[in-house]
Amino acid sequence: SESVRIALLGCGVVGGAVARRLSEAKDEFAARVGRPLEIVGVAVRDTGKDRSETGLDASLFTTDAETLVTEADLVIELMGGMEPAKSLLQKAIESGASVITANKALLGQHGAELYELAEEHGVDLYYEAAVAGAIPLIRPLRVSLAGDSVHRVMGIVNGTTNFILDKMDRTGAQLADVLAEAQELGYAEADPTADVEGHDAQAKAAILASLAFHTRVRTCDVHVEGIMGVTADDIRAARRIGCVIKLLAIAELVDKGGSQAVNVRVHPTLIDRSHPLASVREAFNAVFVETQMAGELMFYGPGAGGDPTASAVLGDVVQAARHKVTGGRGPGELSYANLPIEPIGAS
Ligand code: NAP
Ligand code: HSE
Repeated sequence: SESVRIALLGCGVVGGAVARRLSEAKDEFAARVGRPLEIVGVAVRDTGKDRSETGLDASLFTTDAETLVTEADLVIELMGGMEPAKSLLQKAIESGASVITANKALLGQHGAELYELAEEHGVDLYYEAAVAGAIPLIRPLRVSLAGDSVHRVMGIVNGTTNFILDKMDRTGAQLADVLAEAQELGYAEADPTADVEGHDAQAKAAILASLAFHTRVRTCDVHVEGIMGVTADDIRAARRIGCVIKLLAIAELVDKGGSQAVNVRVHPTLIDRSHPLASVREAFNAVFVETQMAGELMFYGPGAGGDPTASAVLGDVVQAARHKVTGGRGPGELSYANLPIEPIGAS
């Protein structure tokens, strides 16, 4: 039967894992979607690199992403960065493709814009992998909790900094000594200052706050303080008083002069060792969501890395592909709604 045509933008840590799984599990995907999934091209910067471990034919790799996005039913963006990712996603949507991205930096600033464009063109925009890696968190907020009222979202949303702080706590190492290891394991951003200075968590906090409170919070609305100032001495001092230091992202509804506002912030925080967040190790993430009716929910799992992130991307791929096959779209979820809740938090 006719295939669902997929364009992959980027074939690095995450894109490589997505490509490998799509090649290895062709039959499973065809069964789940109802039609075969076919990768029609993979945009990269360097077509000379050996990509044989993806199982894809070398002829599929191209530097012409502009043309590629117009030739697919689904476009998966795993290049990262603002441009050309934003223009390519816009072009894909305008050409009628549904789009999937893990690009929190882009969504944190331009998520609402892209969402509106996708709405206008009747296609899906999915981004489960953009926050907390493999953990199903975006879909629960967009869909499962859409009838409840969230008061607060709080947790660890950056795997690299959790890996670093955890290693510093367990081995007494300095931050610089463990950053390289996090990079080698594929957890860090292409520019790891985004991780250690808190900007990656800042963008994720903006995305979570937008979904949790049905409003529009951008990265620049979020107060941020990273972990660059955290020393081995600070970690030892925390240990002496029975605490650990974690980089937390917090988004909560607050009262501001009689109307509701959302305060969103990212900063290193002292946590008692008995708190569940204190036992989140390595590149794992954990997020608490407090709601009016459900009470307190905790989401926990691998927050970074090729395969875990690809798992979340591929869930989106299956859903978007099924919509293409059935002619339906979206599970009726709310995303980037527009309640008048003012973001506060950025200094
Ligand atoms: P990566 O390993 O650096 O891979 C980036 C890929 O994009 C490479 O294949 C690169 O091509 C390609 N690329 C970059 N700029 C390009 C351009 N202008 N034109 C064409 N191709 C371009 O990055 P990654 O770790 O896979 O991350 C990808 C995205 O997923 C980012 O948005 C990141 O924030 C997000 N993410 C990553 C993780 C993680 O754990 N790594 C988790 C969640 C989300 P070459 O191979 O030729 O260099
Ligand atoms: N660099 C990010 C992190 C990747 O360490 O959490 C996952 O979003």
